[in-house]
Amino acid sequence: MSTCPIDTSVIRPIRFVAGCCQMLDQRLLPVEEVWHAYTTYEEVAEAISTMVVRGAPAIGVAAAIGAWFGARDIEAETSHDFYSQFEAVCDVLAATRPTAVNLCWALERMKHFAYSNLDRSVVELKIGLEYEALAITQEDEICNQKMGQYGEPLLADGARVLTHCNAGALATAAYGTALGVIRAAVAAGKKISVIADETRPFLQGARLTAWELMKDKIPVTLICDNMAGYLMSQGEIDCVIVGADRIAANGDVANKIGTYMVAVLAKAHKIPFYVAAPISTIDLSVKDGSEIPIEERSDREITHIKDVQLAPEGIKVRNPAFDVTPHDLVTAIITEKGVVQGDYRAELQKIVAQR
Ligand code: MRU
Repeated sequence: MSTCPIDTSVIRPIRFVAGCCQMLDQRLLPVEEVWHAYTTYEEVAEAISTMVVRGAPAIGVAAAIGAWFGARDIEAETSHDFYSQFEAVCDVLAATRPTAVNLCWALERMKHFAYSNLDRSVVELKIGLEYEALAITQEDEICNQKMGQYGEPLLADGARVLTHCNAGALATAAYGTALGVIRAAVAAGKKISVIADETRPFLQGARLTAWELMKDKIPVTLICDNMAGYLMSQGEIDCVIVGADRIAANGDVANKIGTYMVAVLAKAHKIPFYVAAPISTIDLSVKDGSEIPIEERSDREITHIKDVQLAPEGIKVRNPAFDVTPHDLVTAIITEKGVVQGDYRAELQKIVAQR
């Protein structure tokens, strides 16, 4: 296994150290910074489904690493036998979380590599899949930096930017999508401040966005989700920028539950609503948001915070983890190939074709 030197000034949720893949346990942040070591695809699948690692691009990266581990451990005489076992590994990883398309995108890319190289030996396929997983990891960081360059001109000097959930370094290989745009604006010398929605129930805003922005010394103010409208009505928000888990062919955006509410509020207050996402998040196979599967998570995420019970025993609960923001509420979509606006159906097709 390859080992990269650890640069602790850069926030990364996944790292390779001493010949081992480690993931920062995002369930424990900001109170504890605990890294777990992973060596099998089953362990990686568990880390994704239990949200040790989360965020659309980061779970794509993790899935690719899991697929590489699975491939490494396959015992097969022929490349065809290898491939059928590899498909089964990918199926397990694909079943971990349904909404973020980056997960399946990364696994499809791994499978495509293997399938299009079936004339090679099993050993060569295993080596190639290791390179492919590492390439997916490195490319994600590069995409985020490019997204930052395209997106930062949209943020004025002095902008007060609201974000929802965590679309930062922790949700990607590094740098972040929405927070990457903010990082790029800060690097360009702009005075930017962030208002972070706490993002009930998993509290990605309170626990993760707040943590990583404070670590990078970017001014951040935490609010409860139900305060965004008031702040907008008081003229305290200049724009909204969020990430995405899947963008349909017509520009409808699935993202963390509560994003839709923020987008409606932004429209009502004539505040620009930007989405930053890599092209791997665009899924042209779904024609609109109604076709995007929405993950429902456990009741306990709503009824409890850690071991503290908040609601009566036996209460009926709904816990959809994502919602869909219709494209007409989206001012622009920032990608690593440029900013998409206007006729999303036509423009997204063009930008995906550039891949
Ligand atoms: O449930 P999560 O924490 O995986 O959800 C994450 C989000 O909704 C993010 O906003 C999205 O994945 C974009 S991350 C760059």
